[in-house]
Amino acid sequence: MNTSYRLGVNIDHVATIRNARGGMHPSIKKAALECIEAGADSITVHLREDQRHIKPSDVVELKKILKKPLNLEMALTRKMINFAIKIRPAFVCIVPENRKELTTEGGLNLFNNFKYLKKNIQKLQSYNIKVSLFIDPNLKNIKQAIKLNANNIELHTGTYCKILEKSNKKKALYEFNKIKKVAKFATKNNFGIHCGHGLNYLSAKNLKKIKEIKEFNIGHFIISDSIFYGLKPVVEKFIKIIKN
Ligand code: PXP
Repeated sequence: MNTSYRLGVNIDHVATIRNARGGMHPSIKKAALECIEAGADSITVHLREDQRHIKPSDVVELKKILKKPLNLEMALTRKMINFAIKIRPAFVCIVPENRKELTTEGGLNLFNNFKYLKKNIQKLQSYNIKVSLFIDPNLKNIKQAIKLNANNIELHTGTYCKILEKSNKKKALYEFNKIKKVAKFATKNNFGIHCGHGLNYLSAKNLKKIKEIKEFNIGHFIISDSIFYGLKPVVEKFIKIIKN
């Protein structure tokens, strides 16, 4: 097991199922603890403005019970910044948010509102929160992230995963090489490299070949495959892929 590679499990969709009936089942806390017991390195939740899955109270509870880091995905709004400062997760991953989207559709635009981004990244960091930026894999974004002084980069793997699902080998290799080039460049510039979005066993196994990628954040596939195999075995299977 190579402990310098990490798996973060995004449990948003446990809340999606819970909210379908409005009760307390399945329990977010239980899901988080099972993931940690199976060997996950961190728990990720995305508190969206519309609170369609995770609620603020879930984040409060998770922060109380987790002995491993909590990674809070959020849009950089005034309300969310204040919430993060109150909760103090170990990590904040800044994502773009659009009310109508089914899930986060693309990376963050680092060129709009540069001053606002910079000021608030610094503000979160001053409370000992490490900030990562969820971005599309291109060099221009990394150069801008350097100016923003973020701690980590989370590379959006959605495009790569979609292409891979369609079995388009040539296009998949092109996208893979793009991620690799960006990961290498970002590592040289002292960023911790994370990746996420749309990952499954095959895409995680392939991207694991890029040694600069240190953290994999996986949500939807883990929760959905758990229906068939159970949460712990699915997390354990990803750990084998990522840490071996
Ligand atoms: N990383 C980020 C920044 C995300 O926004 C998401 C989706 O919430 C994920 C990782 C997990 O993506 P998926 O649910 O497709 O595995």
